[in-house]
Amino acid sequence: MTAPFQPLVDPHGRTVRDLRISVTDRCNFRCTYCMPEEGMRWLPRQEVLTFEEILRVARVCVERFGFDGIRITGGEPTVRAQLPVLIEKLATLRIPATGQPVDLAMTTNGATLGLLAHDLRRAGLSRLNISCDTLRPERFEAMTRRAQLDRVLDGIHAAIDAGFDPVKVNIVTIRGVNDDEVVDFATFGRQLGVQPRFIEFMPLDADERWSMDQVLPSDEVVAAINAVYPLEAVAHGPEPASRYRYLDGQGEIGVIASVTHPFCGDCDRIRITAEGQLRNCLFAVRETDLRAVLRGGGTDDDLAGAISGDVARKWAGHSIGKVHFIRPSRSMSQIGG
Ligand code: 5AD
Ligand code: SF4
Repeated sequence: MTAPFQPLVDPHGRTVRDLRISVTDRCNFRCTYCMPEEGMRWLPRQEVLTFEEILRVARVCVERFGFDGIRITGGEPTVRAQLPVLIEKLATLRIPATGQPVDLAMTTNGATLGLLAHDLRRAGLSRLNISCDTLRPERFEAMTRRAQLDRVLDGIHAAIDAGFDPVKVNIVTIRGVNDDEVVDFATFGRQLGVQPRFIEFMPLDADERWSMDQVLPSDEVVAAINAVYPLEAVAHGPEPASRYRYLDGQGEIGVIASVTHPFCGDCDRIRITAEGQLRNCLFAVRETDLRAVLRGGGTDDDLAGAISGDVARKWAGHSIGKVHFIRPSRSMSQIGG
């Protein structure tokens, strides 16, 4: 049986169907391109949405608007207590058009997956992206300010063991920092059967040190790998990654050229921050306060109206690198990747 729902189409003709939920602004790492070393001010617990509130927003997006994908983000989502309980609840949602469960994914730094991967899988999570920007221990410590590469590698293995498929490894490539490891990551991915996804560095670092010359263009990443392991492009849908497969059949890679080839034209997502602010773009400068609706006695209609009202303001795309670009005041950990 299919219930009535109304797809959410933005002013540029894009259907929004993907919700990214940040479940915490906290993190056990301090990646230099995301957080300052010290002095992050965490949200007080009562400001963070409860699981019930998160579930309500997600349910409205799925049941009213036919969303079919949900991704859990942070901060680091696994520092939120009882995360598998939330996953279990989200896994009960059904896409109205098909009656199928929503596609449930999560982006994590992997450090706690050794303990949690199996529980998350059992709870109904289907896909995992694990962030790991270097395979060299000293560099890992310099980039994350934590000496925990071993734990992350264990986490990647635990994810594979638990049956996540695919397991993707997100690598933020920064010129002069880790650009010499592109081929190493390709080799790593081929050996383990995981997909590396190289992400261009975006101006969302808390220290505001980003500059265009630190961006390693994805085209260079593809060329470097292709020279060692020949590649061919894979046709792809609305996802931001451009995918390439190895001609020898040993898997694929993805590149996310957010800066050099923005994919805003295909954007189908909105995000909600840990404290319940709806953002219709990673680079949005305005937000809609869904928590106020949730805690002010708003009905599902009110919530749906607040969401569609925000989507009605979704812009065509960001303008990183242009003079009129306005940097959002939040950094990545406060938005949710
Ligand atoms: N530019 C690009 N990617 C970033 N991430 C965090 N900060 C940035 C940035 N400034 C990535 C993380 C993770 C995902 C949530 O976003 O490494 O993979
Ligand atoms: Fe934490 Fe992710 Fe930010 Fe690194 S990028 S500090 S792992 S939220």
